[in-house]
Amino acid sequence: MRSQAEESHPDLRAALDHLLAAGGKRVRPTLCLLVGNMLGAPLEKLICLGAAVELLHTATLVHDDLIDGALLRRGMPTLNARWSPPATVLTGDFLFARAAKLAAETNHLPLMKLFSETLATIVNGELTQMFGSRGLISRDNYYKRIYAKTASLFEMTSKASAMVSPTDEFTVETMRDFGYQLGMAFQIVDDILDFSGEQSAVGKPLGSDLLNGLITLPAIYFAEHNPEDPDVASLPNGGWTNVENMARLVDNIRASSCTKKAMIEAEGHIERALSMLESLEPCPERDALESLAKYIIDRKI
Ligand code: IPE
Ligand code: IPE
Ligand code: MG
Ligand code: MG
Repeated sequence: MRSQAEESHPDLRAALDHLLAAGGKRVRPTLCLLVGNMLGAPLEKLICLGAAVELLHTATLVHDDLIDGALLRRGMPTLNARWSPPATVLTGDFLFARAAKLAAETNHLPLMKLFSETLATIVNGELTQMFGSRGLISRDNYYKRIYAKTASLFEMTSKASAMVSPTDEFTVETMRDFGYQLGMAFQIVDDILDFSGEQSAVGKPLGSDLLNGLITLPAIYFAEHNPEDPDVASLPNGGWTNVENMARLVDNIRASSCTKKAMIEAEGHIERALSMLESLEPCPERDALESLAKYIIDRKI
């Protein structure tokens, strides 16, 4: 990943160094390497794919933080906190380009197609969220949104790792579904952490989804149980722009059992993922995938 900015403008190199030094959990490349190693994929292809997926993820975060005006990510200032919007947009574009190049280095045409389709799904999901979903209290809309913005990339990562492996169609489909379940759980937990996480651990601004008009699963549960609550009732009419009311609503959701209810849903996805692993031959990678799946719901960051 680091070598992708070699021979580029010094500021671009510095920006990439800054982004990569902050680390992040690297969950997606971990998923890639474990699935591929388990199924016997060539290591060079897995390294390209893992780096491609993580750079794609990093690029979406660079643009997401600019769009949201978020100043903190992975416990460090975001690029947009230190740089102009044009420089931030262009750095994101550069990362997208490098991610595509790395994906192409697998020399696998269906994989490249899947990779670009996934990016289109993510971008389309973000636009739908921006224009069509603010203040909307809808489960159906929520599940579609989290699939587009997060689960689609987990699904692609796991499926693509199987695609470059010497394996059968059934296993490719099993790994696709495994990635899907992990991704849905991952975003539900991210949405829970926005309410109940520890700011210093999570390393990004919390309590901000509602203020951005994003009605996530804990808020949906709360709305279903308290339809008369005036703050809830205000949401579809733009009430999410009222900072004081939203602070009160966040407190009420925190004090309720709604984050716990959302967690039970995330656990359901992980149980499904774990049951899929059972159809595979036991090996150290399978054990590690089991740990990865459990980590997704236990994580505090
Ligand atoms: C953050 O992803 C964006 C979401 C899809 C929720 P991660 O939580 O994987 O971010 P890093 O890479 O570990 O910082
Ligand atoms: C962003 O999701 C994921 C993208 C693919 C852009 P979130 O908006 O929930 O991510 P965070 O909470 O800022 O990390
Ligand atoms: Mg965001
Ligand atoms: Mg979030």
